[in-house]
This record gives sequence, C-alpha cells and structure tokens, in this order.
Amino acid sequence: MPKSGTTAPPKKNSTKATSSATKNSAKPSAHAVPATAAAAPSGSALEIKDTRTNKTYTVPIADDALRAPDLKKIKTDDPDDLGLVSYDPAFLNTASCRSAITFIDGDKGILRYRGYPIEQLAEGATFLEVAWLLRHGELPTQQEYDQFVHDVTFHTYVHENFRKFLEGFRYDAHPMAMLNSSIAGLASFYPSSRNIFDETERNISIIRLLAKTPTIAAFSYRHVKGLPFVYPDNRLSYVENFLSMIARMSESKYEANPIFTRALEILFILHADHEQNASTNAVRSVGSSHVDPFSAVSAGVAALFGPLHGGANEQVLRMITEIGNVRNVPKFIESVKSGQGGRLMGFGHRVYKSYDPGAKIVKKLADDVLKVVGVDKDLEIALELERIALSDEYFTSRKLYPNVDFYTGLIYRSMAFPVDFFTVLFAIARMAGWLAQWEEMLLDKEQKIARPRQIYIGPAERAYRTKLTKKGN
Ligand SMILES: CC(C)(COP(=O)(O)OP(=O)(O)OC[C@H]1O[C@@H](n2cnc3c(N)ncnc32)[C@H](O)[C@@H]1OP(=O)(O)O)[C@@H](O)C(=O)NCCC(=O)NCCS
Repeated sequence: MPKSGTTAPPKKNSTKATSSATKNSAKPSAHAVPATAAAAPSGSALEIKDTRTNKTYTVPIADDALRAPDLKKIKTDDPDDLGLVSYDPAFLNTASCRSAITFIDGDKGILRYRGYPIEQLAEGATFLEVAWLLRHGELPTQQEYDQFVHDVTFHTYVHENFRKFLEGFRYDAHPMAMLNSSIAGLASFYPSSRNIFDETERNISIIRLLAKTPTIAAFSYRHVKGLPFVYPDNRLSYVENFLSMIARMSESKYEANPIFTRALEILFILHADHEQNASTNAVRSVGSSHVDPFSAVSAGVAALFGPLHGGANEQVLRMITEIGNVRNVPKFIESVKSGQGGRLMGFGHRVYKSYDPGAKIVKKLADDVLKVVGVDKDLEIALELERIALSDEYFTSRKLYPNVDFYTGLIYRSMAFPVDFFTVLFAIARMAGWLAQWEEMLLDKEQKIARPRQIYIGPAERAYRTKLTKKGN
C-alpha cells in the first residue's frame, strides 16, 4: 500500500462518473455539455480589441465559455503587466469546473441529477439510491444497491472515543459547530483516507462519511438535550435509523411515523446536490489541495452553517418567532419592503428566478406533515407570510418566490426538530453531493489546486518606519 498522501494522481481521467456522463448525449443547454467535448473547440471565437494598445486578439469560445487564462496574452508594453485577468467576485458568471452531476436552469425552474428530474427522484427514489446515482452517474442495479445499503448500514457506528469528543462540547453548543469539527475529526481516525488516488480508500471514505454523518448528527442532538446516545440499529433503513438515534428512549425498536420518514427521505433527496453552491465550492476548493475527504467535506459543513446558505431555514423560524402573531404579518412585510426590517428569509434565490422546483415538492410535503401535527401559531404566521408575499408586487416583480428553506423549516419544526438542528439535516443530505463533487474534481485532469487571482488595491511599496515607542515584545 502506498504511504499516506503520497499517491500520485492518475494520468488520465478515468472516473466512472465521467464515462457515464459521456453516454448522456442530451444537451439541455449551452452550459450542459457532455464531459468529453471539453477540448473540442467549436471554431467560434471572441475578437477583442484592446483600446489601450489598439491590438486585436482572438479568444476561442468552447461550450459558450471563454477560458480566462486566454486573457493573459492581452497586455500592454509595460514589462510589469502580467496580462488581463477576469474579475468576478462571488463567481457570478464564472464556471470553475466541468461537471456531469447536477443540471439547474434557474429561469425555467429545472433541477436534474445526472439527467433525472428532481420531481421523479423525489417521487420514487430512496436517498441512498440518489447518493449512488450522484457519484456513479447511473442508477444502481438491485445488486449494487443492496451491497451499497449493506455497506452504509454496517459503517454507521463511530469509534467510542467520539463519545468523549462530543461530550466535551458545552451543553448549548450549536450542533453545526459540533458536526463541523466532528467530521473534520474523523480524519484522525482514518489516516489511510489520505490516499485519495487509491479507489478502494476513496470508496470506504465515502461510505464512512455517508454512514457516520447521521450518527454524529444524532449524537450532537442527544448531547444538547442531555439524553443518552442511541446507537445505530442495523435493522432499520437509513432515514428510520437516523430518526431512531434521535428519538428512541426505552423502546427495543423505534418505529417512526411513516409520513415523517418519507418526508425526511424526500427532503434528503432534494438537498442532496445543487451544483456549484457555496458549500460545494468550498469542498472542491479545499479538496483541490489533495487533503483527505473528511477535511474537504468539513469545509462544506462550515460553509453550509452560514445564514445565506444552509442556515436560511433556521433564520425563517427565528423570523417567525420575532413576528410573534399572525396580526403582525402585514406590518412585517411593509418593513421588509421599506428596507427597514431586513429580508424575508426563505424567499429569493441566486439561481432560481422562477418557482424553485424543490419548493413545489416541499410545499406538498409540508401539507402532508401538517395534516399529522396540525397548524399552530407559528405555522399560521408562515402561511400568511407566504400568502401575502406571493401576491405582493414588491416580491413578484423581483421574482422572489419561496425557496426550499421556507418550507423545510416548517416541516422540521412540525417534526419537533429544534431550530438550530435544521442545517444539520441539510448537511446529512448534502454529504452525498459533496462527495460526488469532490471525487469528480479529484479525477478531473484539468483541475489543479484552486488559487484565484486578485486585483491588488493596497499601498505601493513603502519603507518600514515603526510607530512603536518601546523596544522588544
Ligand atoms: C438568496 C439570496 C441571497 C439571493 O440573493 P441575490 O440573487 O444576490 O439577489 P439580490 O441580493 O441581488 O436581490 C435582488 C433584489 O431583491 C431583493 N431581495 C432579495 N431577496 C430578498 C428577500 N428575501 N426579501 C426581501 N427582498 C429581497 C433585494 O433587496 C434586491 O432588491 P433591489 O433590486 O430593490 O435592490 C437573497 O434572495 C436572500 O438573501 N434571501 C433570503 C435568505 C434565504 O432565504 N436564503 C436561502 C437561499 S436558498
């Protein structure tokens, strides 16, 4: 076996994911092309005239994209000029990779995993089937699926030292902070996971992460509640087992409400991947240094913690608590519109400028779950917010529709999950996408360590003159 972290990257892009992607010849849009078309220039080009020098440059266009490194040749006669860079803070219009995993058309409200519409997967698939699909590019056969479910089920236990690790957190620790450090901490238990170019090592790391994330999440929940940890039950499905570790008390076998189980399974499917979002970008970027997968995906957990990303559903519930009463909704909406009251959390999306396809599915789920638990004061507020915002010109003209987070918060709350646990549920699901994207990045021969350029705007060289008046430290 090669030494940890010393294995060389493969010379060729030999991923199963890529090879399966090339079979998919459907071309849904200009930016969704088969992976092998990468190098094939379409013959089109952009002619750029630099008005500083009056020189004209021809920059090739492929896949409706120009390659930013091609801009480097555009420079003045100044010997210090390193050439033109593209400036795109927050990657508003920059593709950082070629990916065959998820396709989104925000204007049309389309979300597909490996070509399969999210609506169909939510209707019929299991979360583990989707996790397999995301990674391998094709749906598993029965044999592949059974083996995969077996492998995940039999890796759900964590090392007993993890108890001590989790018990060391304060009683009021945010479960995302616990999850983040715990996922990173797993790297210390599996040092050979650093052999990232060994397929067997990658495989077992991916299985471990899918299997142990719900266990760690549930342990964090029990720690905060002051309840004893419940060990995984291998007789149960992925979602049932998670619910059992969350809620089981003295029962010998936990039986979850089937409506809750299916609702959670569908929410996991909806959240499993969302192409190059902030957390996936973080995973790819950190993973590009060839660190182990536990460390790479912990960067995803950290990014997801932020209120503009996975933390949004938590913010939705906090906003509802602040509103306090359904009578205060119109006043609150006015304060959002005037800019005084912050944003309407759970509304708007960077990509979806029509109805979020996931939100449609989740709204239906919310109705199912509400039938079981009934509508309380907070849910009434949420439904009134939705009703007013959907008919208000401020929101409709800006194409601000409810996103998945608006409804997921309501569902999770109805299932009695504490508000600060919502993002953890998101992280369990997104683990599948992070891992598929991490592996795709790793095996993409075009990828290198992520290292953006900058436009330096600080002082020019100046001489050091200390302002300190005392010598030494
Ligand atoms: C998701 C989000 C960050 C996307 O932002 P974006 O695409 O960069 O959109 P912008 O911030 O440019 O906003 C465009 C306009 O809509 C308004 N807007 C966007 N989201 C809004 C919201 N949730 N409530 C009120 N106004 C909102 C902005 O004020 C801006 O108005 P203006 O044109 O009058 O200045 C943003 O909609 C938001 O903060 N939503 C709430 C948080 C949330 O639910 N996040 C979960 C995302 S899945």
